[in-house]
Amino acid sequence: MKVLVIGGGAREHALCRSLSLDPAVSALYCAPGNAGIADVATLRPVDALDGAAVATLATELAADLVVVGPEAPLVAGVADAVRAAGIPVFGPSAEAAQLEGSKAFAKDVMAAAGVPTARSYVCTTPDEVDEALDAFGAPYVVKDDGLAAGKGVVVTDDLAAARAHALACDRVVIEEYLDGPEVSLFAITDGVTVVPLQPAQDFKRALDGDAGPNTGGMGAYSPLPWADPKLVDEVMELVLQPTVDELRRRGTPFSGLLYAGLAITGRGTRVIEFNARFGDPETQVVLARLRTPLAGVLLNAANGTLDTLPPLVWRDDAAVTVVIASHNYPETPRTGDPIEGLLEVAAEDEPDAYVLHAGTRREGNTVVSAGGRVLSVTATGSDLAQARAKAYKAVARIRLDGSQHRTDIAAKAAEGR
Ligand code: AMP
Ligand code: GLY
Repeated sequence: MKVLVIGGGAREHALCRSLSLDPAVSALYCAPGNAGIADVATLRPVDALDGAAVATLATELAADLVVVGPEAPLVAGVADAVRAAGIPVFGPSAEAAQLEGSKAFAKDVMAAAGVPTARSYVCTTPDEVDEALDAFGAPYVVKDDGLAAGKGVVVTDDLAAARAHALACDRVVIEEYLDGPEVSLFAITDGVTVVPLQPAQDFKRALDGDAGPNTGGMGAYSPLPWADPKLVDEVMELVLQPTVDELRRRGTPFSGLLYAGLAITGRGTRVIEFNARFGDPETQVVLARLRTPLAGVLLNAANGTLDTLPPLVWRDDAAVTVVIASHNYPETPRTGDPIEGLLEVAAEDEPDAYVLHAGTRREGNTVVSAGGRVLSVTATGSDLAQARAKAYKAVARIRLDGSQHRTDIAAKAAEGR
């Protein structure tokens, strides 16, 4: 099977790594990729947002499957263009991707499907904004309706800041604050059948102890020893299957990866948000634990034959990933700094720990930073404590001037808290 992966972050590196280990994959391409993905896949340049260009590339490569990684191409209709060219694609249509592309659309789907989520108002005028902020009180949760690359959500006790963010957006969703630990649960679906993956937890804030600004995600781990063993079944029944059924009922079936961001509150599990693609960095730890070869799973979803897929097989191992970000991330990340130590990790730590690349590019013989999140150092171990120790040992070998990473990824969970 020839597979083309679209994107170039650590999530795509994790996908390519798993696909490269799958004996069914005879050729693996990634467009545009990054310096690390080049080790496991053949890179091709492409504008990932240009559906026609991606479809042309997939046709030229005679791809049997195209996997679209990030949300922006999905919302732009790249999966539709590839599907129209007759090539199986893992990733939802532009219409179904509105589940991530519009928070208001997602709220509407959840209301119709009876999915538990925060109570909310969609506001377009200053008066509506003031009324909604007043109705919920602090802490205020204000979400830009559209895609905002992780910068659209403000959670604050400061009314003026909440108001300012709301007024800077054309359309906002203002909602009730949900208290409790967060869980990311991914499911693979073909629009009818839903196959849940293992839950993971992401660390959204930049600094240790969940301080500092919101980021794309600074680390993740799986499994969640503290979670109720019935969580996956419960979320399947209350959230994932009803959402997939509702989108099919609307004539816009969702096929690809449905990502439920959940809050485990005192009053039950609630959806914080949906995403229409694999999460980053959670994918790094979820795929590290998946034993079933990945390509067949994604192809079954693309072809609408997930009902024929045998149950997924998971490793007993735990996995931890730690993101190394550039100087000044997330505000104004500095790029172009050389990265050292990659070969040491490859020589000393693999296969237990390995480096997945996010924002990197090759300049001659050196790899340099090229984005806010630069690397996602991933490790597996017999339990979270061991996976954590291995991940941080590898992190310590990496040298990137001015870089930052959290030191407390999976720390509480590893201590049984
Ligand atoms: P989102 O982009 O929707 O994932 O929001 C980013 C982060 O903001 C989430 O991971 C949560 O930590 C936080 N957040 C979003 N919605 C809420 C909510 N209703 N209550 C509390 N925190 C929230
Ligand atoms: N880890 C959060 C996201 O992928 O949106």
